[in-house]
Amino acid sequence: MKIIIDGKKIDTEGKDTILEIAKKEGFDIPHLCNHSDLCVTGSCRLCMVSVLGRRDYFAACSLYPEEGMEILTSNPEIEKIRKINLELLFSQHKEECRDCVWEDKCKLLELAEKHKVKVDKFQDRKRNYPIFSFGGIIDFDSSK
Ligand code: SF4
Ligand code: FES
Repeated sequence: MKIIIDGKKIDTEGKDTILEIAKKEGFDIPHLCNHSDLCVTGSCRLCMVSVLGRRDYFAACSLYPEEGMEILTSNPEIEKIRKINLELLFSQHKEECRDCVWEDKCKLLELAEKHKVKVDKFQDRKRNYPIFSFGGIIDFDSSK
């Protein structure tokens, strides 16, 4: 089937999501919660795209192509949505970057900088959520 992403005509078999197709074609759609080893949750809402002829915005990680679909990966409205969603992520995220293993390669900070998000905007709403330990090997800090 044929689809168009940001004006580029693409042939696809239709098995991949729009995010996967866009990645293969070299488009940079921001995404945090999508990983090939995990099931799709569509929770970060950063990969939003618009589809020509449809009113809503869609998470590219859970959107599958349809014949003739025309996708836009960026416009002022999409960027605004991404910025708001990033701000919401930071409203529940403790940036204790100095002690964080991700400090030098943090995708979240990279996106915050790119979208000019003030990471401490919601300082008053940040809480210490519990840390869960899985088998003594993995710690999940739910404040991050
Ligand atoms: S994951 Fe959070 S705490 Fe760690 S470097 Fe990124 S913003 Fe800082
Ligand atoms: S990558 Fe998180 S919602 Fe799509």
